[in-house]
Amino acid sequence: MENHLLLCIFLLIPAFASSDFLVAHVRNIKKRNADNDLVVNGIEIYSMKIDSKITSRFAHNVITSRAVNRGNVHKEVFFDVELPKTAFITNFSMTIDGVTYPGTIKEKEVAKKQYEKAVSKGQTAGLVKASGRKTEKFTVSVNIEAASKVTFELTYEELLKRQFGKYEMFIKVKPKQLVKDFEIEVNIFEPQGITELEAEGTFITNDLQNIIKKFFSDKKGHISFRPTLDQQRTCANCSQSVLDGDFTVRYDVKRTAPDDLQIVNGYFVHFFAPTNLPKLPKNVIFVIDISGSMSGREIEQTREALLKILDDIKEDDFFNFILFGSEVQTWKETLIKATPENLDEARKFVRGIDTAGMTNLHGGIMRGIDMLNAAHERNLVPRRSASIIIMLTDGQPNVGVSNTQEIQEHVKKAIEGKYPLYNLGFGYGVDYSFLEKMALENKGLARRIYPDSDAALQLQGFYDEVSNPMLTDIELNYPENEISDLTKNSFKHFYDGSEIVVAGRFIDNNQNHLTVDVRGEGANDALSYTTQQDAQQTDKAFQEQEYIFGDYIERLWAYLTIEQLLEKRIAATGEEKENLTAKALDLSLKYKFVTPLTSMVVTKPEDYNNQDGIADKPIEGTAQAITGVTLAPQSYLYTAHPTWYTSVDGDPHFIISVPQKEDAICFNINENPGAVLNLINDPVTGITVNGELIGDKRANSDAKIQNTYFGKLGIANKHLDLKLTVTPEKITIQNGNEKTGFTWLDSVTLQQEGLTLIINRKKNLVLSMGSSASFVIVLHQVWKKHPLHQDFLGLYTLESDKLSEQTHGLLGQFFHPIDFTILEIHPGSDPKKPDATMIVKNNELTVTRGWQKDYRRDPKHGVDIPCWFVHNNGAGLIDGVHTDYIVSSLF
Ligand SMILES: *[C@@H]1O[C@H](CO)[C@@H](O)[C@H](O)[C@H]1NC(C)=O
Ligand SMILES: *[C@@H]1O[C@H](CO)[C@@H](O)[C@H](O)[C@H]1NC(C)=O
Ligand SMILES: *[C@@H]1O[C@H](CO)[C@@H](O)[C@H](O)[C@H]1NC(C)=O
Repeated sequence: MENHLLLCIFLLIPAFASSDFLVAHVRNIKKRNADNDLVVNGIEIYSMKIDSKITSRFAHNVITSRAVNRGNVHKEVFFDVELPKTAFITNFSMTIDGVTYPGTIKEKEVAKKQYEKAVSKGQTAGLVKASGRKTEKFTVSVNIEAASKVTFELTYEELLKRQFGKYEMFIKVKPKQLVKDFEIEVNIFEPQGITELEAEGTFITNDLQNIIKKFFSDKKGHISFRPTLDQQRTCANCSQSVLDGDFTVRYDVKRTAPDDLQIVNGYFVHFFAPTNLPKLPKNVIFVIDISGSMSGREIEQTREALLKILDDIKEDDFFNFILFGSEVQTWKETLIKATPENLDEARKFVRGIDTAGMTNLHGGIMRGIDMLNAAHERNLVPRRSASIIIMLTDGQPNVGVSNTQEIQEHVKKAIEGKYPLYNLGFGYGVDYSFLEKMALENKGLARRIYPDSDAALQLQGFYDEVSNPMLTDIELNYPENEISDLTKNSFKHFYDGSEIVVAGRFIDNNQNHLTVDVRGEGANDALSYTTQQDAQQTDKAFQEQEYIFGDYIERLWAYLTIEQLLEKRIAATGEEKENLTAKALDLSLKYKFVTPLTSMVVTKPEDYNNQDGIADKPIEGTAQAITGVTLAPQSYLYTAHPTWYTSVDGDPHFIISVPQKEDAICFNINENPGAVLNLINDPVTGITVNGELIGDKRANSDAKIQNTYFGKLGIANKHLDLKLTVTPEKITIQNGNEKTGFTWLDSVTLQQEGLTLIINRKKNLVLSMGSSASFVIVLHQVWKKHPLHQDFLGLYTLESDKLSEQTHGLLGQFFHPIDFTILEIHPGSDPKKPDATMIVKNNELTVTRGWQKDYRRDPKHGVDIPCWFVHNNGAGLIDGVHTDYIVSSLF
């Protein structure tokens, strides 16, 4: 349901150098030297263009970035673009000194083999992926000779969805340096005619507002944004760029009829968006998780959102709340009408919602369905009305029926397709794929609510999307004998401000006439009519459009078909799933879309960088890292989605994920039992985490390095005068002079000022302090009579953005973005574990490919995380040496 077209550009960041230094260096030079200004670490981006052509909601975007290496040594330049998750990349190429190296789209498995082959041949290769809330990042880097030029060109396509009465295109811009020729150009062609067009940028000040050129008339809309160099500067004499933020374009089209049918080259598309219909009353059941893990900010934000939602409920609507912790409670026995008195009572109820117990999701949702079914059977709600169930949970079912497969079966059987189920998953503790499958099986959708300060707004925003149903049971029927490969044509609800899109292919390629039969159920009566269109009308509408890409309706159809096949595939199993996968893959390859089933592979020819590459003259600070390094053929893969985390567990081994590389770095610290290591230290929030090492039950006299583990973790919040000590036996909280203790045999949810603590008996504990980062501590229990090993602890951090920039410590220093480059992969002493050279923090390190265990999910066996292992206690990767992190005591 994302209606955004979001794209974020951080183009061409020169590797190995902080541009801050250079910026500071040139900022105050009175008489500016144009070259100095534009060249950051040797690289000048002399042109960057974002060209967007939208035809009938189908956007075709090309990003072109051109750079030249002004230095006298070769440089690695990166091309990073963030795209909406809903967009498909369709082409990529890089052109180096006039020679173009195209990307090719391949089946993911094939692409992966090609990538692995490159790695095994000792060639460098980059697996590229990352994501934000709505975005995925595409990153490619290439090494450019002195005085050479490179052009990157990326193309992607997307169908813009209508929401709240508008199509929106959201472009996030961040070139990170001044660009001589910077331009965003958007051309819109809508055969129905354009009624409004807006463009704005979060980084655009009043001075800049009039640089956005905007114009529309009848069918065409045009927007351009071309800030000059001076307009890009943060101040008159600064070299920093103001271009850092979101650029948004919104528009809508004229609607003289509910239907717009377009026919081009044997394909058709039907846009359906009736206006001026009376609103349908709706019956909403909110099924809310109040289990212990929701305590703190989550339940506060939920209350806040529900209160706002109550303000928007209309008097004709019916509603009720069902809460589930270990037990299921309902506000009222049945759905009740949203009279002002009832709303007031509901507000009181919502304010009093508190958390309790575990997660009886099955009980909660089944109660909601039963209540809605009963309301319809007993005619307690209007016959012409739209019913929906909205469920919010932040955890996994663990009381009542907790087998997700079983829950899915019960829910599907009880709903029987009568109304959509919307599942909102709060945070990362949910089994999202279960929520998504269950929602899709029941004509709804799942949405993740990101645990952030705007969570209440996210919840409310979702409610707004579904709060104005206008029609139910919409069917758009086309003559069966004329059309094949029709996309989805029946819909449970139509919401005000949205749009239904159906596309298909004519069996007879030359057919130029189409009739459609439209049906739906409205507030007062049934909707039923027939409408038609012929190709000539579309031709006529498009005559004045010179840039139109002729196959756009065919591509729109392919896009929509693939999107729907992938969605169906989520809930499918067995042969059906295989068939859906095969079909989606086939279309992705045919139309060259990078989807979850395909990858983009960019291969540079051999020897490109070998020509005299070693003869470069070193320059200070950066040259050591590059000189003499031969970049062999590279393959890049573009795929999807990792998340960030850091952890320390076991030996103690540290794992630092590097999402943009879809990879991880790991290292061990070998110290004597009794040593206390500083893991996290944030002077601003006052949070520290230290860990004390323990050894085996007795020392192994044969081994040079003794096994050590964390036997005690101390977490303190200075500002709150709060100390938490965790050992494999007990958990102690000291709040000022007050002490509270628990053991690992307890199941506890503790909520007090500034602290949320959840102990999952014998497994792990989850801790959040104030509004700061959350930690998970995993308990490892070994066999009591084990001759050597003792119980120990692991520490995992998931979100770190709540800690300050000044956070340090063995783990904390990696809360800031880190990047690395891997060169010269070659066989190591273990044939299964190749060695390589890693460039990180301006150091050149020898690293080894290996695995470390991540025990978050499976505390017994762990999950193997492939990573680059840095030897010698993380030397060269960590700031300073590891002994710098030894502290005298736990607090
Ligand atoms: C910018 O530089 C000019 C000289 O080139 C100087 O006169 C002016 O004061 C400077 N402006 C600022 C804001 O520093
Ligand atoms: C991909 O882009 C390159 C460079 O612009 C172009 O030559 C090629 O034709 C494009 N391929 C497709 C399939 O559009
Ligand atoms: C899968 O495709 C095969 C071959 O087209 C077909 O025979 C079979 O019935 C399909 N199975 C399902 C479950 O759709």
